[in-house]
Amino acid sequence: MEMNISDPKLSLGDLGSAAAAQEIKRLVKEIDRHDHLYYAKDAPEISDFEYDALFRRLQELEQAHPELRTPDSPTQRVGAEPLDELPSAEHAAPMLSLDSSYELGDVRRFDERVRKDLNLDTIQYVLEPKLDGASVELVYDNGLLVRAATRGNGRVGEVVTENVRTIRSTPLRLHGGIKRWPLPRFLSVRGETIMPLSKFEDLNRNRRTKGLPEYKNARNVTSGALRQLDSRTVARRPLQVYAFDVLHMENGPPLATDWQALSALRAWGFQTPERIETAETVDEIAQYYHDYDQRRDDLGYEIDGIVIKVNKLDLRRVLGHTSHHPRWAMALKFRPRRVAAGIRDIDTQIGRTGVVTPVARLWPVKVSGVTVTNVTLHNREELERKGVRVGDLVWVQRAGDVIPQILGRVERGEPFTMPVACESCGTELVERGPLTVCPNHFGCRAQLEARIVHFASRSALDIEGLGVKTVEQLVERRLVQELADLFDLTPERVAELEGFGQVSANKLVTAIEEPRVFDLPASWSPAALRPRTKSTLRGRKRIDLARFLVGLGIPEVGTTVARDLAAHFRELAALRDATPDQLAEVHGVGETMATTIREFLDNQNVVEALDRLLAKDFDLVPPPEPAPADVADHTPAHPLAGKTFVITGSFESIRRSDLQAHLEKRGARVTGSVTAKTFRLAVGEKPGSSKLAKAKELDVTVLDQDEFLKLIDWPDPPGSPATKVPDTAE
Ligand code: IVH
Repeated sequence: MEMNISDPKLSLGDLGSAAAAQEIKRLVKEIDRHDHLYYAKDAPEISDFEYDALFRRLQELEQAHPELRTPDSPTQRVGAEPLDELPSAEHAAPMLSLDSSYELGDVRRFDERVRKDLNLDTIQYVLEPKLDGASVELVYDNGLLVRAATRGNGRVGEVVTENVRTIRSTPLRLHGGIKRWPLPRFLSVRGETIMPLSKFEDLNRNRRTKGLPEYKNARNVTSGALRQLDSRTVARRPLQVYAFDVLHMENGPPLATDWQALSALRAWGFQTPERIETAETVDEIAQYYHDYDQRRDDLGYEIDGIVIKVNKLDLRRVLGHTSHHPRWAMALKFRPRRVAAGIRDIDTQIGRTGVVTPVARLWPVKVSGVTVTNVTLHNREELERKGVRVGDLVWVQRAGDVIPQILGRVERGEPFTMPVACESCGTELVERGPLTVCPNHFGCRAQLEARIVHFASRSALDIEGLGVKTVEQLVERRLVQELADLFDLTPERVAELEGFGQVSANKLVTAIEEPRVFDLPASWSPAALRPRTKSTLRGRKRIDLARFLVGLGIPEVGTTVARDLAAHFRELAALRDATPDQLAEVHGVGETMATTIREFLDNQNVVEALDRLLAKDFDLVPPPEPAPADVADHTPAHPLAGKTFVITGSFESIRRSDLQAHLEKRGARVTGSVTAKTFRLAVGEKPGSSKLAKAKELDVTVLDQDEFLKLIDWPDPPGSPATKVPDTAE
């Protein structure tokens, strides 16, 4: 194909302003066309090399003539200055949710209801895949992208324009359109942002090599990326946008059907979901659903069902909507995918507390788009219950998240028994209830390594760069034989480790020597959020007491209990001296836990290790006393005060940490597991099944998103208007 890159002999300065303007205009259009071919159509016409040449030429011209740079230039996709917070904006029309089901019977009932309400014998439906990503609204004024927003509460979303600009499949300016689809003066489009699964796997592979925890699913990464404050980091995430609905349009071509709207969207440069079809009977819908379910793994991105929508827009207006979803559409979701996989091996992992966990190593299989090789079998009891052996063929299921489970056996292989001796230290293993434990807590190398990794982890001391690989080497070379030894490391010794140089060694030692002081996430009040400082006070290492307690790995003490302990005792010495009764006085610490904590602190090995650690001279900072205003706030006590909540699943566009802060401000607490003390279990999208099961077992009341938000008095963002009719088109 002909490239028409301008004559390289002609220097940029030579190009007069008028000629430059023309050239820039041509390049913007040309690059935009190639972006569209590459990102939206997957049918590039030129090589990356040729593309780069065009891009560089445009960059150079814009540098020479900055006044000619336009907001729709592809050079403007690289991200802008970071924001302090995301502003919010009202959508052009409400972004409703979808009614959804797993049962074909519900589709039959839906179809019957629609036909009855419209008094028609047959209805034409549009069928689309339901993309499992993050919903966005894109707003175009006179063809130019002026705003992009997350769904938010459906009426008001967060403005993420700069982030969305970085996504190549978003047109920055609507394409000129063909005669049939002239450009509207105003257009608001609804679409879904997704991350291709291959990119998601790359990301997780990268995190694994760095010893970082893997992301659970592509949807979370996508919605996280979309809501980044620094759009330059979004520019590095390989996201895509698919458009599927005209939310609102002014002075545009008349649209009679969804099918037409989709054609118009394509003509204006949007990527629309693949393989959209129409259907008139439930049988056709069932066929489409099964076909898509079969092809799900080959798509390259996550879909969680199909969407069935009435095609004619005037009929949609007759059917209307509830406050939650339109009556003219529904989603039919896929059941979690099951795949048969062979168990190549079963081995064990030894955790920080000595618990030995059996792990099945599978011959790699793809389960709904993600490669699965390891599946935890949880514990001996579970292993025995499932009865799986090496060589067995088992059913593996992945429900949206990366974490897969083994459902059961398809065919029998060799039996597996738990080892009798610890594979790390050789000590005879003991059985404690359902668990198999290596009792050699202080002599077992695997446990030491796991303790150090935990001490350095995000929720504890957050020592950057001290991951599994490094810890293994430090222990192997006997540079670290207990936690205190970390603080004697010198850059010279660290630099000898594999994968380290002088610079990275210095960096690691500094990270250990100068821990950051700040509270655990979601602290009581904003005032408590002191800035991250790297300064040491009088040569002492300032560390948040709660984080330090988390780092010690006291059995059953996670971030919440650690914070409660730190707030209550304020000094580590006071905690070390506390009687079980005094411990049990702490909010959230029951008698059993008090005994466990006391036993841990009394263990001679712990006493010695802790003394040696404390000799490294720490300044352990307790959480700030609650501000007087807060205290006043709590009298009379808030109705939620003292109540314990557990939250599972994700809440569309509300951060878990915000919910937690909201509850804590009212004196309630949020913990990680359902117990008899749990007041309510709040269930968002894709909840954990074990929490639900536990709630059922203990008869804990379960709330869905709406009930929960209502109960805790979660505020609507300011300026939310009353519900507006979601006019799809004019
Ligand atoms: S139609 C009101 N079509 O699924 C109807 N939604 O709760 C407008 N989604 O987050 C939505 N793919 O963004 C529609 N092909 C598709 C979709 C789709 C994904 C999302 C939507 C929302 C969720 C529905």
